Amino acid sequence: MKVLICYASTEGQTRKIARFCADTLFAQGHSAEVLPVALADPIDLAVFDAVIVAGSVHLGRLQAELSDFVTAHGEMLNGMPTLFLVVSLAAAGQDEGDRRDLDGIASDFCDRAGWSPGATHHLAGAFRFSEYDFFKSLAMRYVASQHGQTVDPHADKEYTDWSALSDLLRDWPAPKAGAG
Ligand SMILES: Cc1cc2nc3c(=O)[nH]c(=O)nc-3n(C[C@H](O)[C@H](O)[C@H](O)COP(=O)(O)O)c2cc1C
Repeated sequence: MKVLICYASTEGQTRKIARFCADTLFAQGHSAEVLPVALADPIDLAVFDAVIVAGSVHLGRLQAELSDFVTAHGEMLNGMPTLFLVVSLAAAGQDEGDRRDLDGIASDFCDRAGWSPGATHHLAGAFRFSEYDFFKSLAMRYVASQHGQTVDPHADKEYTDWSALSDLLRDWPAPKAGAG
């Protein structure tokens, strides 16, 4: 299977996730091309068997360039196996309201783009203080404190569950009923 992994990443965690997906799929015998969405077009999706779209949440939204890409290719994406990976810090917690908000962010994104992903998964991201400027760092320390967490502003902190992601990819795309 030839898989395209198209991603948008503001501070780098989704890029790391995209590369992990490629390595995992490669180890399973698939081929995978990893492309930052800003460099993806022009692209012919017909040469791929499946597509993973990944982006991260900032101030309640996914990246606009990811939305542009999915909107432009929605018809094609709707006809092939797709997986939507949504990276956020809210996904690291257990708050039901936060979970509902994340579902809303993902479904609004898809509705606006006219895309029905085969599956949507929320992944916990990271605090990347090494990438933040002074104000972002201050804001993120405040966000952490609001969630009862203490973070060291001199160290990045990763919440992504790599083993769960690996399990998810092992079963994706699910074989069609009756196939095999
Ligand atoms: C300025 C800023 C705003 C953020 N807003 C949200 C948010 O609204 N909801 C959330 O769950 N996470 C939020 N996050 C956390 C990011 O989604 C998380 O750090 C993720 O790992 C970023 O992925 P990236 O490095 O690929 O951009 C925010 C992070 C930053 C720096």
